[in-house]
Amino acid sequence: MALVNTVSIRKNKVSEGSAPLVAVTAYDYTFAKLVDDLVDIVLVGDSVGMVVQGHPNTLSVTLEDMIYHSKCVSAGLKSAHLVVDMPFMSYQVNLESALKNAGRLLSEGLAHAVKLEGGVSITHTITRMVEVGIPVMGHIGLTPQSVHALGGYKVQGRTASARESIIQDAIALEDAGVYAMVLEGIPSDLAEAITSRVKIPTIGIGAGPRCDGQILVLQDFLGLNTDFQPKFVKKFAQLAEATRAAVNSYATEVRQKSFPEKEHSFHVNS
Ligand code: KIV
Repeated sequence: MALVNTVSIRKNKVSEGSAPLVAVTAYDYTFAKLVDDLVDIVLVGDSVGMVVQGHPNTLSVTLEDMIYHSKCVSAGLKSAHLVVDMPFMSYQVNLESALKNAGRLLSEGLAHAVKLEGGVSITHTITRMVEVGIPVMGHIGLTPQSVHALGGYKVQGRTASARESIIQDAIALEDAGVYAMVLEGIPSDLAEAITSRVKIPTIGIGAGPRCDGQILVLQDFLGLNTDFQPKFVKKFAQLAEATRAAVNSYATEVRQKSFPEKEHSFHVNS
């Protein structure tokens, strides 16, 4: 697969004949290497806080965490486009620190672009990032960093005014120069309306089929995450069961002393 980049992604509108973009999250080298040639975009999401660190939300993830995981994922990629989330409070405090932090995610984390949550309220920051050459992906609708302000992980845009404000967020992000935007947790018809309104691609998660691409957390659709089974995730594998079965076989064989066998052991001449 050819190297995917912000220029090719920006043009990827399904309405103009493109195939939908395929995006997944990854947090480490092993999974990054496994998915690299199968997808267009790999996101080092701040969902790392929940999936890897075991926290109830994404708020405690630090910039250092994101740099570390982005570097690990980068080592496993040859062709996919690498996007990294800017964690909570790394871009909201002031423009100077936002630029500095985004720069570190590219220079130290080796990401190709950053993703920021929010619409109208953060366009000033996004405009400046884009001006200095930092590609930005937007993220609107259900924005997990605002979980306390939203009163939980609830579908957004269900009233006429909430719907209108998400449409305004989408237009503001496009005007600020994002090359793509994630639409999370909104009704399908709202995602469809935004997708036809903006010229850049929309990438949906819990936003129905009419986006220009889809993204899911890898551990969720591999069936590794048994705590989290939302409606928008289809399980394409049942790896929690497979992993437990394999560990159980290993434990049984060690306890029965049937592993390791001769073929797994070193000898003077072999
Ligand atoms: O943090 C994350 O993994 C995300 C995606 C699920 C869109 O933001």
